[in-house]
Amino acid sequence: MSALSDRPVDPAVGLPVPHESAILHATGRAIFTDDLASRTAGVLTAWPVQSTHAHARVSVLRTDGALGVPGVVRVLTADDVPGINDSGIKHDEPLFPTEVMFYGQALCWVLAESTEAARLGADAVQVEYEVLTSVVTLSEAITAESFQGETRTVRRGDADAALAEAARVFEGESEVGGQEHFYLETQAALAQVEDDGRVFVQCSTQHPSETQAIVAHVLGLSSNAVTVQCLRMGGAFGGKEMQPHGFAAVAALGALLTGRPVRLRLTRTQDLTLTGKRHPFHASWRVGFSEDGLLLGLKATLTADGGWSLDLSEPVLSRALCHIDNAYWIPAIEARGRIVKTNKTSQTAFRGFGGPQGMFMIEDILGRCAPLLGIDPAELRRKNFYAPGQLTPYGQPVRHAERLGAIWTQLVHSSALARRTEEARAFNAASPHLKRALALTPVKFGISFNFTAFNQAGALVHVYKDGSVLINHGGTEMGQGLHTKMLQVASTALGVPLSAVRLAPTRTDKVPNTSATAASSSSDLNGGAIKNACDQILARMADVAGRMLGAHSQDVRFTRGRVSALGLGAGQDIGFAEVAGEAYLQRVQLWAAGFYRTEGLYWDQKAMQGEPFKYFAYGAAATEVEVDGFTGAYRVRRVDIVHDVGDSLSPIIDIGQVEGGFVQGAGWLTLEDLRWDAGDGPGRGRLLTQSASTYKLPSLSEMPDEFNVTLFERATEDGAIYGSKAVGEPPVMLALSVREALRQAVAGFGPAGHSVELASPATPEAVFWALTAARAAVEAEAPTQGTSGAERAPALTDT
Ligand code: MTE
Ligand code: MOS
Repeated sequence: MSALSDRPVDPAVGLPVPHESAILHATGRAIFTDDLASRTAGVLTAWPVQSTHAHARVSVLRTDGALGVPGVVRVLTADDVPGINDSGIKHDEPLFPTEVMFYGQALCWVLAESTEAARLGADAVQVEYEVLTSVVTLSEAITAESFQGETRTVRRGDADAALAEAARVFEGESEVGGQEHFYLETQAALAQVEDDGRVFVQCSTQHPSETQAIVAHVLGLSSNAVTVQCLRMGGAFGGKEMQPHGFAAVAALGALLTGRPVRLRLTRTQDLTLTGKRHPFHASWRVGFSEDGLLLGLKATLTADGGWSLDLSEPVLSRALCHIDNAYWIPAIEARGRIVKTNKTSQTAFRGFGGPQGMFMIEDILGRCAPLLGIDPAELRRKNFYAPGQLTPYGQPVRHAERLGAIWTQLVHSSALARRTEEARAFNAASPHLKRALALTPVKFGISFNFTAFNQAGALVHVYKDGSVLINHGGTEMGQGLHTKMLQVASTALGVPLSAVRLAPTRTDKVPNTSATAASSSSDLNGGAIKNACDQILARMADVAGRMLGAHSQDVRFTRGRVSALGLGAGQDIGFAEVAGEAYLQRVQLWAAGFYRTEGLYWDQKAMQGEPFKYFAYGAAATEVEVDGFTGAYRVRRVDIVHDVGDSLSPIIDIGQVEGGFVQGAGWLTLEDLRWDAGDGPGRGRLLTQSASTYKLPSLSEMPDEFNVTLFERATEDGAIYGSKAVGEPPVMLALSVREALRQAVAGFGPAGHSVELASPATPEAVFWALTAARAAVEAEAPTQGTSGAERAPALTDT
């Protein structure tokens, strides 16, 4: 059959169609996991008893009080677990712990007839603790040498030698905060036990197969006794890759022990205090440049705050180390990574999966060094871009590196960079208290799971006798538009109209052993599997149609629901349904299981070398901001983006992903400030930002006044489904341009050559401290060592 990237005539891929559930979402008819509870009879609700210490031993857990509360049916504790009392994949996450590892951790779960009864029951459980010393912040953990997991190093050449010879060498530290996923739908599961003891769990999960595996091992069952279904998610962003498993296991355990359906749906505050977030990272670094600003060497130590258990911290760290180069050729490099263990939620996957943190470091370095080198930051970035033929530090050729320059040039024109930079300069000269700046930053993001085995997918495609099509694949829908794209792929591959194809919910008994819907790879993987299944069916249908049309099967064409043969005249085609009906009568199989594995990948995770990525997604953003010198408040005036999605499978979806990813990234870098109680009082380790009132999310008022997103054209990606590229995560990192624009605007308050250190998130407060330092530098007329803002981004020294 045709190559994976070839598009037939008149394809459904590439059409600007709305999200497959857009109308259901907008009218409220879309069903989410917890909506099922009210449609199910006899449901019990599960409610957690949460720890009030960051680190402690549970000396007494008395549940009889709860059982006295009317409506309470049972309290689930460690004694009830028939299988393994662990909800992780590393066996370091007891589901019902005896040692509390973070403030808010669930100790046991109360099952009751109503939410209210369950809540009151949980209040009536008595817990006594033996308090242990806790490690809360990243810096406390480094001092205490509280580490977990493997240390990894990406190395090329001799970084020490390169730094020794470099004309200009700078060193410093950078730190970036975490981020809450804040998916609209909190974690939810509904479990039922079937007549023969099989367990059916409906769950808001990005990883149904792993939810199934964890439920099975907690219950002591094999995988064929547990089915997990995910209808759709109201957002996930990586937060439902690992986090749902334990909640699903609690619901399943409750259902098994009571014989009744059990629902579990976290409140917002429970979700914020129980589940993992984006990893905060710290880096210390030394960087060397040539006199004219070419990167020569980099030595860095990255430290990720993993929270109380490993979860996905190791692969997140690997991706950070594989993205510290971003778009830049660094001839000699030694980037070491390690993970600290702290008494906080277990940090996990979050859109970009460490990539944003790695890229943050190099962009922070370039943004801080540009003034010291006396080079315009955009020029410093551009001149260090990878050239075709160069390799990443982990040994992968940077294919299509020329796109970096092409995208950059297009953006320079489309954003009218020269004119607007001049306008900002003129504005600033006349404005002592408001300063504007424009910054450009590039993105190069590797697509595929680093762990090679995950790069596989399956699908099940049914053609019914009436010619209608039902598809099922291993990926889940979280709003990203995967199902929409998969409908377009099946419609294209079978040559039927989009309206002839439907999609059934993701279930582990339809497609087994699936990978998480993650790493932005789901269209590549599941699209490949769906096309493979469609190709099998079409080959069989072509035989039937060939006989019907009196033509060779290889000359049969399927287009938009019509089947014809080469050389036949108009009106001699037949309908797809007719062929399907005839195939049935001739006892020809009309359904198929499809499979796809990404070719050409290998990765040595110990040596941190190989070719882990199928390709790179490229993009660049130009952001203009205006900063108020009195308050540090700022506004994003305009954003222009040029982004490479290959040949788009679904342009409306892709533009939505670019816009959404950018705004989520801007939230992480400018607004969203997770605060934990690091004091010595009784609240030590408690998450202080427990709701949307204290945790500032991007809203309409933070949207750029003008927002232009352009998809890079003529960008066919060979070897990927219909020439497309992944889009889910890369745009997050385009938001680094917002941070860099803020840095440059702040520089406008300081003397020439002043290096601006900006804490992250760059909240108005952080911007205020940075511009206070810039102003102080004017007075001192010498480079400053920074004031308060410097606590999180210590002074940079030219050594
Ligand atoms: N878009 C929406 N609307 N909601 C989400 O939860 N998750 C992101 C991204 N875009 C997400 C989203 C993350 S973290 C990933 S990895 C990808 O979607 C996953 O889907 P894909 O592989 O189909 O791109
Ligand atoms: Mo996305 S962080 O890979 O779920």
